[in-house]
Amino acid sequence: MKLLLEAAERVQAVTDRASQAAEGRAVVGIGASGDKTIAADRDAEKEILETLKSAGDIRVVSEEAGEMGDPNAEFTAIVDPIDGSANFERGIPFYCTSIGVVRGHRLADAECAVVRNLISGDTYLAERGKGATKNGKKIASSMVDQVAKAFLGADISRAKAETVVELAPLVAASRRLLHYGANALELCLVSEGLLDAFVDVRGKMRIVDFAGAYLIAKEAGAIVTAPDGRVLDPPLDLKSKFGYVASGNEKLHREILGFLRGSSF
Ligand code: IPD
Ligand code: CA
Repeated sequence: MKLLLEAAERVQAVTDRASQAAEGRAVVGIGASGDKTIAADRDAEKEILETLKSAGDIRVVSEEAGEMGDPNAEFTAIVDPIDGSANFERGIPFYCTSIGVVRGHRLADAECAVVRNLISGDTYLAERGKGATKNGKKIASSMVDQVAKAFLGADISRAKAETVVELAPLVAASRRLLHYGANALELCLVSEGLLDAFVDVRGKMRIVDFAGAYLIAKEAGAIVTAPDGRVLDPPLDLKSKFGYVASGNEKLHREILGFLRGSSF
């Protein structure tokens, strides 16, 4: 956990600096996940990888540099140096860094995680079986249990038109719709009960954007499944893409899944 905190602090120093200069936003290549890499992504990732060296023999899956280390190592660190890179590029103050550590090869075996809001410095941590915290204080997901009362997050960026149409009844039934452009941090908002639920049914989510916040949400009491209600079990690699639904509590989750039933997600 100490290493995760240290890595997140080192990323904070990078983005504090890079956000002040045009060079920090310059495109410097294409990352292993296929998206463009900006200088801040590259430099933030370097800090994380250097910090993780002291963790010994681990496998790393990271958005820009790709998959590294022994594929049979006991632990895999799943890294998104900056989630919300497009927000960073434009100067929109909503982006974070995320690291999730999994024992073995299944997301269900996530052990510990950090997500740090790189604007406020708010730091979310989770350890398997020990709950989730924000800046050292326990957090819990929402008890709002009706869609009609729910603040709903939905990622529809670059979604197919049919997907947007299929989501419409859920959106129309909810109290408020929000979307900020950094999935990991939005899932942390669900973890602390500021958002009541978040849906991403585009089939575009990658493990790097998700693993850290997934454990934080679970440990905070949120229900997180595939859009059809099945257990989420995405491979821990950069190729696989998936969708998910996260809700503050079981009752709200069931109602949301009811809206999605019969759709193509
Ligand atoms: C992106 C953000 C965004 C989501 C994209 C992701 P990145 O991650 O999480 O909210 O809509 O699908 O790729 O590229 O900023 O790490
Ligand atoms: Ca990223």
